[in-house]
Amino acid sequence: MDSLTVPTGLHVHDDFPLADERGPIVAAARRADRYAVHVTRTADETERELARLLDGARVAAVVTDDTVEALYGGRLYAALRSAGAHVMAHAVPAGERSKSLDQAVRLWNWLAHSELGRRDVLIAFGGGVICDLGGWVASAYMRGVPYVNVPTTLLAMVDGALGGKVAVNHPVAKNLLGAFEQPRGVVADVGYARSLERRHLAAGIAECIKKGVIASPAYFAFIEDNAAALLGGDLDALEVLVRSAAAIKTALIERDPYEDDLRRPLNFGHTIGHPLETVTGYGPLLHGEAVAFGMVVESRIAARRGWLPEPALERLVELLETCRLPVHARELPAGLSAAALIRATAKVRLIRAGSLRWVLPTELGQTVIADDVREEEIRAALAACGILE
Ligand SMILES: NC(=O)c1ccc[n+]([C@@H]2O[C@H](COP(=O)([O-])OP(=O)(O)OC[C@H]3O[C@@H](n4cnc5c(N)ncnc54)[C@H](O)[C@@H]3O)[C@@H](O)[C@H]2O)c1
Repeated sequence: MDSLTVPTGLHVHDDFPLADERGPIVAAARRADRYAVHVTRTADETERELARLLDGARVAAVVTDDTVEALYGGRLYAALRSAGAHVMAHAVPAGERSKSLDQAVRLWNWLAHSELGRRDVLIAFGGGVICDLGGWVASAYMRGVPYVNVPTTLLAMVDGALGGKVAVNHPVAKNLLGAFEQPRGVVADVGYARSLERRHLAAGIAECIKKGVIASPAYFAFIEDNAAALLGGDLDALEVLVRSAAAIKTALIERDPYEDDLRRPLNFGHTIGHPLETVTGYGPLLHGEAVAFGMVVESRIAARRGWLPEPALERLVELLETCRLPVHARELPAGLSAAALIRATAKVRLIRAGSLRWVLPTELGQTVIADDVREEEIRAALAACGILE
């Protein structure tokens, strides 16, 4: 051939020099993830946002649970189809026990036999369990496919769907297997809260109360003033609750998206809450309920140290009680022992790089993160909540 033609396609040209002879070769991988949280009220709005988030995907793989699928699956799948996607869906049994390695493997097998490619999208459609499970499956499949969270519980709207922490549980510890993988976007439709039982609304409010304690007296006061409306499923009140939760959580996460610093106020209530879920077998207690009880124990530790004024402790306990969230052992499954709970914190200690971090509130909007809480302080706080030995 005597004349050259210019090849079509993406042209890539590099000209690396030889490497330096000394010193390590430093690999850099910078991530700057940004995504929007759309708070919606109607199915039409939700479907419009979702159609945008498909961003040209041919296939939408929906991961959901059987309860959510029965309530809302038909409409959502039809909307995705009219947005031009081929829809495939997999529903796991509802509940925390589905946040397991076993279910993740089933989902990977399902995806492996599908048409889903790296330009396509996985949609996590459900509560916090589904956002965590679906996000983790998406993070590992083909080294990562985009995923969109469509949270359907209040807890997932105000917390679980935000922040990119994805994981499944292990019998030894909660969220032991997971990753950081930010979603492409979140569509939080408060209208889904209409079908939530009061207990599930309260569990979501627990994570909001947490945000009020650690970061926003105004938000705490809003929940106090509107507790009845929120628990009654009032959509105006819920919309304010969800929007502000998203604003507070995303701002806190932005300071340290990949938890380089393990001292995070967002863990308030979780140092006891997670072990409580582990020792009760990830079943009888909702995550928000465990966090509520954890907040009381951790606040009692702060109060016993003289760091948190008694009236502030009482104000927190009163608000949790108004929401019928557990603040005492009599509202928890029977047979809990302090020894078992303290044993279960050992794994959390390992995850948190050797020492347990306690987020201790000193007043609304202020916390101190302490790693010197002694076992007798934990026992005393647990005993004050009715958990002995
Ligand atoms: N990744 C994070 O940052 C993060 C933050 C907080 C919580 N979480 C995780 O979230 C999980 C808890 O989430 P959850 O409380 O949403 O649990 P869940 O996902 O199990 O949902 C609770 C129940 O509500 C049902 N449900 C869902 N939407 C419904 C609707 N609109 N109407 C009626 N019923 C509905 C579900 O089928 C399920 O039975 C925990 O595993 C927790 O660790 C993760």
